[in-house]
Amino acid sequence: MTLPVIAAPQPWTDPTILGLGRLPMHVPLNGFRRRSLDGRWSFELFDSPEALAGGTPLAGADVEVPSNWTMQFPDIDPPHYTNKRMPFDGPPPRLPERNRVGVYRRSFEVPKSWRHRVVLHIGGAESVHAVHVNGAFVGYGTDSRLPSEYDVSTSVRPGENELTVVVFRYSANSYIEDQDQWWMAGLHRSIWIESRPAVHLADLPIDVDYDPPTGIGTIDVTAVVDFGLRPEGGWTVRISVVDPAGRSVGRAESPVDHEHAAMSRFKGFQARATFTIDRGKPWSAERPQLHEVTVELVNPAGRVAHVETQRVGLRRVEVKDRQLLVNGQRIWIFGVNRHDHHPDRGKAVTVDDMRADLAAMKAHNINAVRTAHYPNDHAFYDLCDEMGFYVIDEANIESHGNNWSLCDDARYRAAWLDRGARMVTRDRNHPCVILWSLGNESGYGVNHDALAGWIRKADPSRPLHYEDAIRIEGWVDGGLPATDVVCPMYPEIADIEAYGRGPGRRPLIMCEYSHAMGNSNGSLADYWDVITSTPGLQGGFLWEWKDHGLRQVLASPAADGSSNRLAYGGQFGDEPHDGNFVADGLMSADLEPHPAMREVAWVHRPMVVNKARGGRLRITNRRSFTDTSDLTASWESLTPDGSTISGALRVGRIKPGEAKLVAIPAPAAKRTPSWLTIRWHDDARLVAWDQITIGSPARVRDQRSPSTSRPLTGSVPSPSTSRPMTGKVPSPDSAAALVEPELCLWRAPVDNDGFKLSPDLSRRIGVGGQAMVRWQDLGLDVRPAEEFVDHSVSVGDDNGGTVYRHTVDVPPSLADLPRVGVRFVLADRFSNLRWLGRGPHENYPDRNRSAVMGVWEGRPDPSPYLVPQEFGLRTDCRWFELTDPDVGETVRVEVLSPAGLHISVTGYTAEELHAAATHTDLRPSNRLVVHLDVAHRGLGTASCGPDVLPRYRIEAGRYRFAYRISR
Ligand code: GAL
Ligand code: MG
Repeated sequence: MTLPVIAAPQPWTDPTILGLGRLPMHVPLNGFRRRSLDGRWSFELFDSPEALAGGTPLAGADVEVPSNWTMQFPDIDPPHYTNKRMPFDGPPPRLPERNRVGVYRRSFEVPKSWRHRVVLHIGGAESVHAVHVNGAFVGYGTDSRLPSEYDVSTSVRPGENELTVVVFRYSANSYIEDQDQWWMAGLHRSIWIESRPAVHLADLPIDVDYDPPTGIGTIDVTAVVDFGLRPEGGWTVRISVVDPAGRSVGRAESPVDHEHAAMSRFKGFQARATFTIDRGKPWSAERPQLHEVTVELVNPAGRVAHVETQRVGLRRVEVKDRQLLVNGQRIWIFGVNRHDHHPDRGKAVTVDDMRADLAAMKAHNINAVRTAHYPNDHAFYDLCDEMGFYVIDEANIESHGNNWSLCDDARYRAAWLDRGARMVTRDRNHPCVILWSLGNESGYGVNHDALAGWIRKADPSRPLHYEDAIRIEGWVDGGLPATDVVCPMYPEIADIEAYGRGPGRRPLIMCEYSHAMGNSNGSLADYWDVITSTPGLQGGFLWEWKDHGLRQVLASPAADGSSNRLAYGGQFGDEPHDGNFVADGLMSADLEPHPAMREVAWVHRPMVVNKARGGRLRITNRRSFTDTSDLTASWESLTPDGSTISGALRVGRIKPGEAKLVAIPAPAAKRTPSWLTIRWHDDARLVAWDQITIGSPARVRDQRSPSTSRPLTGSVPSPSTSRPMTGKVPSPDSAAALVEPELCLWRAPVDNDGFKLSPDLSRRIGVGGQAMVRWQDLGLDVRPAEEFVDHSVSVGDDNGGTVYRHTVDVPPSLADLPRVGVRFVLADRFSNLRWLGRGPHENYPDRNRSAVMGVWEGRPDPSPYLVPQEFGLRTDCRWFELTDPDVGETVRVEVLSPAGLHISVTGYTAEELHAAATHTDLRPSNRLVVHLDVAHRGLGTASCGPDVLPRYRIEAGRYRFAYRISR
C-alpha cells in the first residue's frame, strides 16, 4: 500500500507559504563556530522552474557569492527596472511563464568536532529560495531582505557535503516586493554554516530604557535557551554589563526555566535579568555611546557552553507634545532614504560599501536613514549604532502595483505579519532604530493593523511609521493604529506649515521629500525655513541617497568614447520599464556627490548664524545633546572689490539647543558694504557655514559702476527680430571680436521640467513637471529666441571694453520661461574660470543658500547628471574671467546691472544637452558655452513633488541687464 505524498510542490507560487523548515528569527548572534560559504559557487541558470527537470541551462559558470546573477549574466537575464507596475502581468499571485531559476552549488566541509547542531544561514536571496543538502530537501524561505536559517544537522555528515540553493527570480511574494528599484536576482547576502552546542542561546532580546530626568538607565535581558527536545534543570546564565568606558556596571546570574509543565506559569526556556544603571551614559546619534552586554550560558556542571555579546544603547524614544523625542529632547531629522545599491554589485553591497555611504552622509550632516524600503544587512545597523545615525527600519512590504487590494487580501496576511515581525525580532537590540516602519506604498488595510498590533505588543519602546495610513485617512487623525508620526511624501511646503499650525497631535516627519532626480532639490532651504519655525515639524528624509545607475558594458564605444556606461531602466532591453526614474539620487551611483549635496549639508548644519540687532550675530547650536566645544569658528569678510580679511571668531561654549549673541568682529563690522562668512570646523571638516551682508553690497556695487559715468559709443538698439550684433565691426583686439552674445531663453529641461525620455508620461499622462511640454509647444526649443520677445541691445566701447545693454520684454503669454539671458561661445583654451558670485558649487535661484558670495576659481564643471540636462549655473555673479592658462589671455565679463547675473560655463549647448539621452552621448567638446542670465527658472522638484515656487519663476515684464566684456 502506498501512502499519499504530503508536499507543497510549488511553494514559490503560493503566497501563504512563507517558509518550510526555517528556524525562528533571532537577534544576530556571533558566538558560534562559523564557516563562511561566501566565495566561488557553481551556477546554472534555467529558463523556468519547469526547465529544471532535465532542461538545458541557459548559462553556467562559476560565480562569486554574494552577488546578483542579473549583474553577472545581463545579456541572458538582465536587471529589470519598474517603479509602481509589476514587471509582468497579474493578477496576483500569477507568475510569468519565463520565470528564471538559478541553481547555486558548492561543497562544504563539516569538521568532525561539529557534533551537535549545524545551522545554515542564507543572508538574503531574491526572490525566494529552496535549500538542498546532499541531495535532500532541507527547506524553503521567502523575504529577500532578511536571512533564513535551517537546521541541517541531520542532513550533513562529517567531511565533504554538497549544498544546492535554488533561487526563483519571481514568486508570489514578488507582488509585495514591488519597490521602485531594479528587480535583481540571486544570493545577494552572505551565507555561512555554523555549529551550535546542543544547548545554546537561541535569542537575546534586550529592552533598554533611559530616564532623562534621573539619568537612570535600565537594561532588561532575556536569554532564550534552545534545549532541543530535552530540557533539563541546572542551567544558568551569567550576564554582565560594561559601560562605554569599559567599566563593569552590573552582573547577574539567573536560572534558565525548564519547567515547561508548570501550568500557567511557564513562559519559555529562558532566564531574565534587569540592570539599573545610575548616571547612565545615554546613546544618541550625536554621542553614540554603547554598552556591552555579555551573556554566558552555564551548564549544570558549571562549564560555560556558549557566550554571546550584544551592544545596546541607553535611550528612550517617545512621541510627546507632537514631538518625537530621544532622551527627552526634540531631535531634528536630517534624513535620507537609502537603498542598497552598487553600480557593479547591484544589491550585493559589502560592509565597506555601507560604511562608505554612512561616512559620506556624516560628511553632509545627515543624521538619519530610512532603510527604504526593506531591512538591510545586519551589519548596517551595527555601523549606525557605532557611527551615530537614527534609523527608520522598514519592513520589506510594498505592494505598490496592487496597493488597494493586497493589504486586505487574506492570502498575503501571514506574509505581512511575518515580514514585520521577523524584522523587529532581528533588529530590536539596535539603539539606532528609533521607528519601525510597516513598509511602503501598500495602501492601508487590515494586514497593516495586524502587523502594527504585533509590533506594539512585542516592542512598546518604539513608535510606528507608515505613510499610506495618513495619506489615505488624513494627516490630523488618520491611520492612528498604524502610525505615530505624520510622515507624508513630497508635500507642498504650505501643507506642512498648515499642519503645524493646525490641531494635529502627532509630529510631522516627511518620509520622502525633495526628489533628487537630475538637477533638482529646489527650495530645500525653504522647507527648512518652515520646519524650524513651525511647531510639530521635525524634518524628513530626502529622496534619495544614490542614483541606481548600473555599469553596463557597451557593444561599441559610446559617443564620448566610453566602453561602458551607467545604465538606467530600459537600457538592458527590460520591458516594460520606467526609464531614468531610477536615477534620482543625491549621489551618483559611484558615490560622487551631486552639487545639491552642498545644499543638503547646509540645511542640516548644526550651527546657524543670523544677523541680530545692534551689530551682533545670533549663533544657534541646533544639536540636541552636544555643546560646541568640538568646534572652532572663523570669519571672513569680502568686499565687492574682491578683497578679503579674516580671523578667528571667539564664541565660547554654547549648550545644545541654545543660542548666543556675539558682536560682529570689529574689523569686519567696519567694512561696509561687505559679506561676512562664518565657518565652523571640527577636527575633520567644515561642518557649518553662513553668510550675512553688512551694509548693502548690492546697491553700492551699482553706484560704483564706471559704465554710467561715460557715454557709450556706437549704441544701436536692434529691432526685436534682428540679431544683436549685426552691423558691428569690432576691432581685432576687442572682446567683441571673440564673443558674440546672442539672446537665449531656452535651457535643456531638467528632469523636474519634464521627462524628456518618457514624453508619453509627461504629455499624455501628465505625470511630473509640465513646463517642458509647454515650452516645446511654444517652439522654444527649436525657434530662435528673437522670435518670441522684444529684444533690443546697445553695444558700444568704453575705455574698459565693450558694453552691452539689453532690454527684453517678456509678454504675458510667455511667462514662466526657462531663462532670460544671452550666451556666447569661446574656444575651450579659456579653461580657467574665476568669478565673484555664489559658489563654489553649482547653484540655482531656489538652491543657492549654501553657496556664498566669494571669489572662486575652477574649471568648467563636467556634466554631473546621468541624463544630460541643464547644469553648472552660478547665481548672483558680479564678474567673471576666463583665462587661457598657456598664453595668459583673459576674457573678462563685468556685470553692470542689475547687481549680479547668473552665469554658466560648460562644454555644451542646451540643444546638445537636450538631445543626449545618457551621459555617454555627450561628445567631448572643444569649446565653451557661456551663459549670462538676468533670470533663470528655479529647479523645484516636480519630477515627484511640488514644482518651482512662484517666486522663482520668470514673470512677464521688462528685463534689463548690462555687462562689459574686455580682454
Ligand atoms: C515614492 C516611493 C519611492 C520612489 C519615489 C520616487 O513614491 O516611495 O520608492 O518611488 O516615490 O522616486
Ligand atoms: Mg513605490
